[in-house]
Amino acid sequence: MSQLTDGFGRSFPYLRLSLTEACNFRCSYCLPDGYQADGRPQFLAVDEIARLVRAFAALGMHKIRLTGGEPSLRKDLQQIIATVAQVPGIRKVAITTNGCLLPRHLPGWHRAGLTALNVSMDSLQRERFHAITGHDRLPELMEGLNLAQALGLQSIKLNAVLLRGLNDDELPAWMEFLRERPLGVRFIELMRTGDNREYFERHHLRADVVIEQLLAAGWSEQVRAGDAGPAREFGHPDYRGRIGIIAPYARDFCKGCNRLRVTARGDLRLCLFGDFGVALRPLLQSDGDQDALLARITTQLGLKAAGHGLHFGQTGLTPHLASIGG
Ligand code: GTP
Ligand code: 5AD
Ligand code: SF4
Repeated sequence: MSQLTDGFGRSFPYLRLSLTEACNFRCSYCLPDGYQADGRPQFLAVDEIARLVRAFAALGMHKIRLTGGEPSLRKDLQQIIATVAQVPGIRKVAITTNGCLLPRHLPGWHRAGLTALNVSMDSLQRERFHAITGHDRLPELMEGLNLAQALGLQSIKLNAVLLRGLNDDELPAWMEFLRERPLGVRFIELMRTGDNREYFERHHLRADVVIEQLLAAGWSEQVRAGDAGPAREFGHPDYRGRIGIIAPYARDFCKGCNRLRVTARGDLRLCLFGDFGVALRPLLQSDGDQDALLARITTQLGLKAAGHGLHFGQTGLTPHLASIGG
């Protein structure tokens, strides 16, 4: 049972831990010019990660999602997965990746204890995928996906950011893709960040459009627990896969929030938008600081706001999602 609860009755069994801000893709909505290193201090090391995860597990957290940037750019990723998976109390170790290194590394990650995989796949068409991400890597992603299914990972989900004029006509193709594949695909509404304002005006599309098409095609919404995460999920008896919708601009989106974030440099962030974060790294240098670390986390959680800053135009605090792990 999570001891991490906030002033709005939400509890937090789930940590999103960013391992790096670096990325090798150039997604047009996130890092269109690619990642630019800024010479600041290094990202959290394995022993710092071990102390951090032990502290959150002591507070009742049981799921860790490794994010970035692109987490697979960390040379020590397999060691990080093994370290996190061995912390008593941690039951799920998930990763969110752009997928291009899956064919090479997924078996090792799986052996180390990875249980769940989310892969960004903004289009099923090779040329479009290339245009959106800057890389012609869709075939590797498909190979990685097949491998993930063959290895029997507990959960495999794909993410497609909905982009007006770029990929908004692919719902029928996705349905076909899911007919025989027991996967989840989530359509994510584009979020406005400090860096993508003009792009957002051009390409943002409300997910209601997709929901209407799903209902018209006989898909129905599945009942999920209130704290099951941000996606609404739809299913259809003729299809093995599920379709999810992540619509952060929807009024009630934050009510079911079940996650906290730690950035690649060790700042605790209570929300994607509207929070500067508080440094945990000084308390990750020795086991002797564990009590102070637990106190800092619980005190900070008391400040978590009811909803994210997107509703208040606070996008500038988050330059792009790679900076805090999405
Ligand atoms: P699982 O429930 O563990 O599968 O997590 P997820 O679906 O949230 O993870 P993933 O890393 O695949 O993220 C999918 C999309 O949801 C990304 O665009 C995230 O930025 C977005 N997202 C995840 N959590 C939040 C949140 O708390 N607030 C907002 N606004 N967006 C979120
Ligand atoms: N809006 C919505 N989703 C985004 N992602 C990155 N930037 C944005 C944005 N501005 C998605 C990626 C990846 C996930 C972690 O976040 O496509 O699937
Ligand atoms: Fe990299 Fe993910 Fe940002 Fe694309 S969305 S540039 S894969 S961090």
